[in-house]
Amino acid sequence: TKQIQIAIDGPAAAGKSTIAKKAAELLGYTYVDTGAMYRAITYKAIQSNIDLQDGEKLTNILNKTSIELKPSPKGQLVFLDNQEVTDEIRSKEVTASVSEVAAHADLRKEMVLRQLEMGKNGSIVMDGRDIGTHVLTNAELKIFMSASVEERARRRFLENQKRGISTNLEELIEEIALRDKMDSEREASPLIKAEDAIFIDTTSLTIEEVSEKIMQLAKERM
Ligand code: C5P
Repeated sequence: TKQIQIAIDGPAAAGKSTIAKKAAELLGYTYVDTGAMYRAITYKAIQSNIDLQDGEKLTNILNKTSIELKPSPKGQLVFLDNQEVTDEIRSKEVTASVSEVAAHADLRKEMVLRQLEMGKNGSIVMDGRDIGTHVLTNAELKIFMSASVEERARRRFLENQKRGISTNLEELIEEIALRDKMDSEREASPLIKAEDAIFIDTTSLTIEEVSEKIMQLAKERM
């Protein structure tokens, strides 16, 4: 069988990482969560009190920053300058600021270079917002996953509950809708379905159903 690249894009909390992780595990592929990379640099910028509107400064900092994604039995671990920040990058503060940081074109250029390097040998499942349109543009399989904002907020609410984090459903709907708007309306590689991506509306599908669908599509292309 052929080693392929799988690109999974879509709005916030659509279940991309759950599905991408699962597919990577079943195929024995590498999983790359590109959102974690944008979150990591956002975390560093907040910690260092950098103006999040200053794209040039942020890009200079990124150029001197190491961001590593390491698989572990507990899931993907994220290292920023060799320090583990897996949980820190999921904080409310980072979530609220990441779209502002991710809007800078030069910063995105550097991120894409790093992602291309990670994906160059195939056998990869990468998720994000611009993977099918700007990163793995020749991927054998491109998926664009979405669900209604209410359903996505409900899923994130339940996920947070499981992790012992209490959140407010209305607030989650607002936060997700705002992030979608910023990601879709930015000038630099906005969130948009690649022409050759397959659209999957997961609103009324279970994780197993989506996962099966994607595995079938992957196998057809191997
Ligand atoms: O996927 P996740 O929700 O962790 O992504 C966090 C943010 O990072 C997104 O809302 C978006 O602003 C940015 N992002 C991006 N391009 C990617 C992945 C994430 O702009 N490929």
